[in-house]
Amino acid sequence: MIGGGYVGLVSGACFAEFGSEVTVVEADPAKLAALNAGRMPIYEPGLETLVQQNVAAGRLAFTGDLAAGVRDTEAVFIAVGTPTRRGDGHADLTYVYAAAEQVARALTGYAVIVTKSTVPVGTGLRIKDIVQSVRPDLDFDVASNPEFLREGNAIGDFMRPDRVVIGAESDRAREVLRRLYRPLYLIEAPIVFTAIETAELTKYAANAFLAMKVTFINEIADLCEKVGADVHDVARGIGLDGRIGRKFLHPGPGYGGSCFPKDTLALVRTAQDYGAPSRLVEATVAVNDARKSSMAMRVIAACGGNVRGKTIAILGLTFKPETDDMRDSPAISIVARLAGDGATIRAFDPEGMAQAQPLLPEGVGYCKDALDAAAGADALVLITEWNEFRALAPERLAEAMRGKVLIDLRNVYEPSAMRAAGFEYHGVGRPFVA
Ligand SMILES: NC(=O)c1ccc[n+]([C@@H]2O[C@H](COP(=O)([O-])OP(=O)(O)OC[C@H]3O[C@@H](n4cnc5c(N)ncnc54)[C@H](O)[C@@H]3O)[C@@H](O)[C@H]2O)c1
Repeated sequence: MIGGGYVGLVSGACFAEFGSEVTVVEADPAKLAALNAGRMPIYEPGLETLVQQNVAAGRLAFTGDLAAGVRDTEAVFIAVGTPTRRGDGHADLTYVYAAAEQVARALTGYAVIVTKSTVPVGTGLRIKDIVQSVRPDLDFDVASNPEFLREGNAIGDFMRPDRVVIGAESDRAREVLRRLYRPLYLIEAPIVFTAIETAELTKYAANAFLAMKVTFINEIADLCEKVGADVHDVARGIGLDGRIGRKFLHPGPGYGGSCFPKDTLALVRTAQDYGAPSRLVEATVAVNDARKSSMAMRVIAACGGNVRGKTIAILGLTFKPETDDMRDSPAISIVARLAGDGATIRAFDPEGMAQAQPLLPEGVGYCKDALDAAAGADALVLITEWNEFRALAPERLAEAMRGKVLIDLRNVYEPSAMRAAGFEYHGVGRPFVA
């Protein structure tokens, strides 16, 4: 497994749990040292135990030496980052191609080189060209096996996936991958075999569709606010229709994270390049960007139009709960704007504060828990719906704060309970009653 990040580490540990022998190759010395010391470089529930058990069982190992890691392997997965390329929105494939070249030089016999990273259509074939030109003598196949795990539930998603998508060109490659995923046959997880291009595109289509669904309900939430409707009732009313489905219909501050923003952008670019532009995805990207930047304005409006000199408590910084991932989190633009407008920020996140610090303005106060963040605040903004925030007693929050403005960007609180505790409660897409 090349890359020991969110995907590589989880996939490596899960394949080991399935019974394969796995070596995870990680280039970052700090991450590698942590892994070798039994510490997880990321927060993901259940990961530490799974890794420790499989290391102890001799099925999982970590190395910085790629050549040693891929020696005598049947399958090499590339699970390195594919961030947005600066300037044009395409996926930056530098790490993928560099890894492919290193793998090509190091392989000692037949192997399937599998792309697990999210990569644009055509990347698999490009990897094939690279490997062939570096090692004309090598017997190998390329395959695409995009990963659909969600951070925060990554192990469950990998072990009990809705489906596995495998794009491959040869029976030999399909057989190697079928064997690796054999434990999933027992639980009857669908395994979809396709062409490589199809597998590559399937991943982008899935993420773009989900991003579009979230963005759709966010727009409906805005309309609800104008007309006095409740977006939760609308979401339930449409979601019970099996053709629509109830998931991903929760309004909020706009999607963030390490995947949706970059994958929607990359799909837009690919579609344009091939002369088949995707207007829906283009609109999704634009609407979501505008939404994220408008969230701070919502807070400012709720604070009476000005936050200068006010203290604002922020609950939750990560792009979603149960992860420490801050990539493209809506909190980044919200906090930057509020601090820029002269507010004093007191923030708390259960797992994300170390990752948040380099991305947020200097001067943000990092607190020890939610009540500490709320202490003396004029307003409180809930950005990420960690479970521990749901359980906060409204009276205790109200006692801790100086002001009574509560902006709940995830609608986790019951408006009537918050109003009963004296709060001026602002949710998303629900009628505002002062
Ligand atoms: N994070 C998710 O939830 C998720 C879900 C599905 C798919 N994906 C996709 O999976 C890919 C990886 O995402 P991630 O979140 O795990 O990224 P990440 O940045 O957390 O991890 C990538 C790791 O690869 C290492 N690396 C880079 N080049 C290397 C090399 N040549 N040799 C060894 N290690 C190398 C980096 O040091 C880093 O630790 C991306 O394409 C992403 O879009 C991510």
